[in-house]
Amino acid sequence: MNGYAATATYIITDDCITDEESGWDVMSTWESPIMQKHADIVCANGGHILEFGFGMGISADMIQAKNPTSHTIIEINDAIYTRLEEWASDKSNVVIVKGDWYNDIPTDKKYDGIFYDAHNDNAMLKTAELKNYIKPGGVFTYYNEEVGPRNFSFKDIEYEVIDVESFIEECKYFKGNKYYLPIVNF
Ligand SMILES: C[S@@+](CC[C@H](N)C(=O)[O-])C[C@H]1O[C@@H](n2cnc3c(N)ncnc32)[C@H](O)[C@@H]1O
Repeated sequence: MNGYAATATYIITDDCITDEESGWDVMSTWESPIMQKHADIVCANGGHILEFGFGMGISADMIQAKNPTSHTIIEINDAIYTRLEEWASDKSNVVIVKGDWYNDIPTDKKYDGIFYDAHNDNAMLKTAELKNYIKPGGVFTYYNEEVGPRNFSFKDIEYEVIDVESFIEECKYFKGNKYYLPIVNF
């Protein structure tokens, strides 16, 4: 779906991934407290976890720390996928998929938790048929840059409001001092 990330050239350092063409942050270590909350929520039921976008692997490490039954990660960018292959090589519960989160979700199982952080693609969440991939009682959460609650066509959505004032100076794009972390219960 998202051809841009597939062909983007990323500059990857220890604390940041930057898109070479736009100069925009793709991922930074300062986002770790937010990733921890997403990891806590997506793993609330344990079981099979599906994650969209590997990035720096920060949330992936946090999900792994919760020892899920399986942890499937879909990543579209060549350079990031190479890093994902290396990261996954010693993890027997990890399934990696080179492709697009929207079109390439493995259908051999239904998931207990899904975390979306493919970042450029929020619009597609409006049409994603996630209920086809998630178990009843499963949980979905997604990274976003919204300035307040906004419903991406999900019926049962709630928000955990996180105060991000303490690290806001690092951030180029949050427009407020709160992060609205969406929790969708299926
Ligand atoms: C913000 S980063 C993910 C950060 C990650 N949660 C972490 O903690 O490091 C977004 C990732 O999604 C990937 N991506 C973008 N569009 C995608 C798509 N359509 N399908 C799969 N991955 C995609 C990007 O290449 C990038 O690695």
